[in-house]
Parts: sequence; structure tokens; C-alpha cells
Amino acid sequence: NPEVFILAIESSCDDTAAAVLQNDKVLSNVVANQLIHTQYGGVVPELASRAHQQNIVPVIDAAIRAANINKEQLSAIAFTQGPGLMGSLLVGSSFAKSMALALQIPLIAVNHMQAHVLAHFIAEDGYDRPTFPFLALTISGGHTQIIRVNDFFDMKVIGETTDDAVGEAFDKSAKILGLPYPGGPLIDKFAQLGNPRAFAFTKPKVAGLNFSFSGLKTAILYFIQKKKLENPNFVDENLNDICASIQQTIIEILMDKLKLAVKETGIKQIAIGGGVSANSGIRNTLKAAEVSYGWKTFIPKFEYTTDNAAMIGIVGYQKFLNQTFETSAVVSKARIQL
Ligand code: KG4
Ligand code: ZN
Repeated sequence: NPEVFILAIESSCDDTAAAVLQNDKVLSNVVANQLIHTQYGGVVPELASRAHQQNIVPVIDAAIRAANINKEQLSAIAFTQGPGLMGSLLVGSSFAKSMALALQIPLIAVNHMQAHVLAHFIAEDGYDRPTFPFLALTISGGHTQIIRVNDFFDMKVIGETTDDAVGEAFDKSAKILGLPYPGGPLIDKFAQLGNPRAFAFTKPKVAGLNFSFSGLKTAILYFIQKKKLENPNFVDENLNDICASIQQTIIEILMDKLKLAVKETGIKQIAIGGGVSANSGIRNTLKAAEVSYGWKTFIPKFEYTTDNAAMIGIVGYQKFLNQTFETSAVVSKARIQL
């Protein structure tokens, strides 16, 4: 079997990323984060596209150099086709098309959501791969999905959010507490010092495997407003307990749905991905579920959970093996189904 070298490009949201894979092994994985959005409290699409345009060439150059290969050795170029912000996607796809044309090599379009799921198949020492079928929980600032994964390209969303994503629930709660964006990691940090049972927030009642997080945000807002009337320093004096209680509520919402998904499908392998899977409470709870529920849980290396190009590369590798290529007429898509 000849070696396959894939250059992968990810530009769906606010991170410009490039990676080089040799078969299923990552040779380089470069990400340029866009810090410009912090001051706006969220990603500004127009600014994201401009930053991608500035970053894309240096990031790809860095990824090829770090992989220690010549660009002539590349077998194919994989890029994120969608879903994502259209202006951001166009920067990555245009670059990928041009480079594939210049090198006379195949072009591979990758679904970003499939990539979050298939990131578990990157060869990495100390990390097991799930076997088919398994359940994937993808949780980030943009996504909240439970997916039944039957095979590499045979997967079905069986539950998803009807409003905010989990990451937004973290970030909007943090904003109510006066914390800077993105507040998810800060809630995690303070939660580790607090009592998760200090305050109770009602969980949403959503039938089946779907999620809803917008009610939680409102419940937290009203709770904080009321407490501040009694004591203006309430947040400062109780920050750790508030964060621990918010995080606990979010974890319970996720776990309730996962338990239902396991019950309905009979599948006990759970693989998580997306930036929120960095959360220490979620990680600990899932690890504990291996003992308490007999599940096998898979948590990828951190750099493969947040938006990255290595996950685009592993999908690119599978599609290369299947010879699933695109012509240069392929178009970016803000929305695509799995
Ligand atoms: O995957 P990601 O880097 O970007 C996308 O949204 O696609 O995810 C970012 C999200 C943000 O909402 C951020 O607050 C959240 O992941 N996040 C966390 C933690 N680290 C990142 N949320 C809770 N706990 C964390 N440790
Ligand atoms: Zn993502």
C-alpha cells in the first residue's frame, strides 16, 4: 500500500487551520485562532473571513513545513465544504481548489460535522478508536448533536438542539455572570472550586433525544437578577458555587439524553467531540459512566476536539481510499446534512 499524504484545510468558523496526514497519522496540525472576536462577545462573520484571508497562506505553509514533506508529495487536498459561515468557507475552498489544480492532484470535500465524529479515527498513541456502531456526542459553540454512527459515511443525527448549542449555554451564562467571552472555560475553572448542589436550575422538558438550552439561560438570568436585588455582591461572593451549579445542570441535561440514546439504540460506546468536550466535569462524568453504566467512552486528544484541520484530514484519507473526489466546480455550503 502506497503512503497517502493529505493536506487538509479547515476554515468554517473563526479558526484558520491546516494539517498534513500520512495515512491516518498526523504529521502537522496548525491552527491560527482569531482573537479579534473577543471584544465583540462572539464571532463576527465579516471579520472572520478577513482574518482567514490573512492567515490562510502562512498557516498552510507552516503545516507543510512542520510535516517535513515537499508539496509535490501530496496525494490530495481536503477542505471543509460546510456547514459554517459562508465567507469563511469560501476562503478555504478557493485556496484548496487552486492548490489542487496547481499540483494536479484530487480535491476532497469534507463535512465538518462528520469530521468531528471521525476525529476518533486519527492514529494516536494511548487513544482507542471506537468500533461501529457507536454514538457520537458533538458539543461545541455551534453544535449539539447525538449521532448514531454505523460506518465512516453512514451516520444519522438522532438528537440535536432546538435552540442554543451547549457551548452557547456556557458562554451566555458566563456573560450573565460578567465573565469575558468565551466563558465556557472560565465556568469550568470556577466550577472546580464550587459546590454543584449549591443552587438548582430547572432542566428543560424536551421530548425524545433533542435538547433545548435557551430556557436555562433565562432561568439563570432571572435567578441572578433576583439574588442581586437582595445582595448586590451575590455573584462575586458565590461565583464558584454558581458556576458549579450551572455546569452540573448542563451535565445532567447531556447525561439524561445520552442515557436515553443508549436505551433506545442498545449502543454503549460513546465518543465525544467539539470544544465543550474539554470541560472537566463532562469528562469526569463520562469516565465515571464507564463504571456506573458499563459504557465505553472515547474522548479524543484536546487538539482534535476543538475546530482543527487534522479531523478534516482523517475524513480526507478515508475519502481518498474510497476515491471520492470533487471537480473544481464544487461549492461551499453554509448548511449540509450529515
Ligand atoms: O469547537 P469549538 O472550539 O468551536 C466551535 O464552536 O465550533 O468550541 C468552542 C466552545 C465555546 O462555546 C467555549 O466556551 C466552549 O467550547 N468551551 C468550553 C470549555 N472549553 C471550551 N465549555 C465548557 N468548558 C470548557 N472547559
Ligand atoms: Zn466545529
